[in-house]
Amino acid sequence: MKLFDVYPLFDINIVRGKGCHVWDAKGEEYLDLYGGHAVISIGHAHPHYVEAIAKQVATLGFYSNSVINKLQQDVADRLGAISGYDDYQLFLINSGAEANENALKLASFHTGRTRVVSFAKAFHGRTSLAVEVTDNPKIIAPINDNGHVTYLPLNDTEAMKAELAKGDVCAVIIEGIQGVGGIQVPTDEFMQALRRACDDYGTVLILDEIQSGYGRSGKFFAHQYAGIRPDMITVAKGIGNGFPMGGVLISTKFKPVYGQLGTTFGGNHLACAAAIAVLDVMKEEGLVENAAKVGAYLLEELKGFPAIKEVRGRGLMIGLEFAEPIKELRSRLLFEQKVFTGVSGTNVIRLLPPLCLSMSEADDFLSRLHKVIG
Ligand SMILES: Cc1ncc(COP(=O)(O)O)c(C=O)c1O
Repeated sequence: MKLFDVYPLFDINIVRGKGCHVWDAKGEEYLDLYGGHAVISIGHAHPHYVEAIAKQVATLGFYSNSVINKLQQDVADRLGAISGYDDYQLFLINSGAEANENALKLASFHTGRTRVVSFAKAFHGRTSLAVEVTDNPKIIAPINDNGHVTYLPLNDTEAMKAELAKGDVCAVIIEGIQGVGGIQVPTDEFMQALRRACDDYGTVLILDEIQSGYGRSGKFFAHQYAGIRPDMITVAKGIGNGFPMGGVLISTKFKPVYGQLGTTFGGNHLACAAAIAVLDVMKEEGLVENAAKVGAYLLEELKGFPAIKEVRGRGLMIGLEFAEPIKELRSRLLFEQKVFTGVSGTNVIRLLPPLCLSMSEADDFLSRLHKVIG
């Protein structure tokens, strides 16, 4: 059987990882400034994480959500404490799209409404509602195009207020920092105005922190720079350091109803063991603080490269916009300098390294970048 060929691939077979480095099948070492698309939070093959998963799978890998799974509460307790959302409720699923799907569904159950506001360049996943609120017509199939969504320009407070004032908007969904859209940061003032308008017009505010959350921005959640509290927060990617997992943090204004949401695999024992290990390592090693420190250093240094048109981001979520397309530059970084980076559109390089990136690894990256762009 052939694989369904939907991914343009680099001709590199990554077989091993450690910290912020990965190795290919030929033994070549690469510096990982991509984190497998913002997924690797605590670093590749962290010994505590490896041990926790190995122990759990040898004990019990899976049982269903029809019995008590104490590990789910252990995840919730740790996540509540580290994020400052101890008073919220946690629903666990398997991916980012699924997290947004459930958040939108819950918002609609709660308000009885069907309209959603999303933003230009937004990316929220590829399942039915998640893709409908994603601003990319190329990946919205006719079956997903159901007219629920109005896209507004990011940071346009007047347009946002006018739309919400219509009084029929179920939810606003917004990324803490837009990732796929090219590391676009919503202003704190816009986030605060959005919170107020959602309160004024009975609209649910959903913060998609799937890429920008879990410490990546230098705070646990990127929206915490604006000092607001959303009604729901969606998480995935870094939550399991590569183990597929997602979650929705839900404020107490939403009352759970038996059977209204559900999943076979979500919150299973193995996933919870991974998530607990991630949160323990994040706390133990101060990885949110590390992302803030190393990210601030990188942002400052990168601003000194004349070849880069604009440097955007917070913490270890950094976008480098160039005047020219970056395809060749990214290839040279990968094949000549052995550095993995991400991309956004045609002109933006995205840096999403593991949150344990050290200052010396940051310097190593800067000197490899220097060799390519001077
Ligand atoms: C902001 C954001 N939301 C949602 C998703 C979808 O997550 P998943 O691929 O786990 O479904 C992504 C994935 O890149 C994302 O960056």
